[in-house]
Amino acid sequence: MNKDADPVTPLLELRNVSKRFGGLRAVREVSFTMGAGEIVFVIGPNGAGKTTVFNLVSGFFHPDEGSILFQGKDVSKLAPHLSARLGIGRTFQIVKPLANLTVLQNVMLGAFMHTGSTQTAEAEATKVLAFLQMSHLKDFSASGLPLAALKRLEIARALATKPKLILLDEVVSGLTTNEALALAELIKRLPEWGVSVVGGVEHVMQVVMKIADRVIVLDHGAKIAEGIPSEVVKNPEVIEAYLGAKYKELVG
Ligand SMILES: Nc1ncnc2c1ncn2[C@@H]1O[C@H](COP(=O)(O)OP(=O)(O)O)[C@@H](O)[C@H]1O
Ligand SMILES: [Mg+2]
Repeated sequence: MNKDADPVTPLLELRNVSKRFGGLRAVREVSFTMGAGEIVFVIGPNGAGKTTVFNLVSGFFHPDEGSILFQGKDVSKLAPHLSARLGIGRTFQIVKPLANLTVLQNVMLGAFMHTGSTQTAEAEATKVLAFLQMSHLKDFSASGLPLAALKRLEIARALATKPKLILLDEVVSGLTTNEALALAELIKRLPEWGVSVVGGVEHVMQVVMKIADRVIVLDHGAKIAEGIPSEVVKNPEVIEAYLGAKYKELVG
């Protein structure tokens, strides 16, 4: 657990959050809370509203109804850069590093959010890259990296901003099982750094089953289940949501 954790106020709380795009209700009255030190995964079929929830929590969108509280403070209407400053870090489903910069320089950009010193930024970026087992790639151009390294670079950049909470959207998608398991081992250690995690994935993959303290299931924008992974996958409503989306297997 994060030693700064306040045992009473949740780290993150969504209260009846809704978001529409024209006539489409992308997120419908979603509520959940999470404490510091937790690893929570939001799962649901493609189009369920996972990325929209991340965009809402990180200030890229604002809820039409409901509110989002971070450490007890209402962040519903905050702009993305202010939400990042408060300690909400994120990665993007579509990986987008600055291709003309090296891996180290990309990560330093994250550190510059809280320091003006190039030396400090480089020291912090170096530390984060070591944690993500990417030190050997630091001088490579970000443009030539394979997907597994790009996903780690996204996490590294977000970690360098020193977040209290990191939102990892589809961070293991597209990776081989071995790559995903290796990355999961690192994600599992983030709470040791005082970083709580909300991940988002389509399938309840083995890796999610292993590292998530809790999963929240979205279907058509609404929360249909919440609990420990091994119980949620047995929930008939959850199975139905995936079958309805023509998923043959819930645990991929
Ligand atoms: N910026 C947007 N404008 C219009 N519709 C959107 C936008 N973002 C997402 N949607 C729609 O909202 C629904 C939820 O999408 P999304 O949150 O991306 O789902 P997921 O990440 O679970 O696949 C989808 O129907 C999607 O097409
Ligand atoms: Mg998505």
